Amino acid sequence: MTTTEHSQAPADAAPADPHRRRVLGWLSVVLGALSTVAAGVPILGYLLSPVLRTPTNEWIDLGPVEDFPEKQTRLVDFVDPLHRPWDGDSQRLAAYVRRAGPDVFQVFSVNCTHLGCPVSWFPQSGLFLCPCHGGVYYEDGSHASGPPPRGLYVLENRVANGRLSIRAGRLPTLQQPG
Ligand code: FES
Repeated sequence: MTTTEHSQAPADAAPADPHRRRVLGWLSVVLGALSTVAAGVPILGYLLSPVLRTPTNEWIDLGPVEDFPEKQTRLVDFVDPLHRPWDGDSQRLAAYVRRAGPDVFQVFSVNCTHLGCPVSWFPQSGLFLCPCHGGVYYEDGSHASGPPPRGLYVLENRVANGRLSIRAGRLPTLQQPG
């Protein structure tokens, strides 16, 4: 005895609609392209930011000179002139101001010249110390000991109308220290 089997589609299954398939296919291509662009824009922005962020020569006000007593070193903070709206707290930069004489100011970047850790000022010993690898700098910013290849970066400063300001439109590097 032979049996014959027939595969039968359910009676209520609708026939495939080629037009609908094509529309769904295009929709998935468009959504895929949009999500690729959405994911790629921030990455592209990050990669191009060094080129797009042009240095500025803006003078940044640090306050009246009376805020900086002679023979003392003070930590100041200021807003990065190259900041973006989404930078949050990272837009605040810091520097050490040393008033060596009545009209002599030195302003140092807080970043160690070895790998960039923020240094701390210790007035008792008159030294800047880096917590990362033990770099030490004298009060005038020159290198005292440890791995840093040079002294602290010095930011250009000026006094006008009794107020101290600095040029801080770009971060110093070993290749371009000043
Ligand atoms: S980062 Fe300061 S000593 Fe290495």
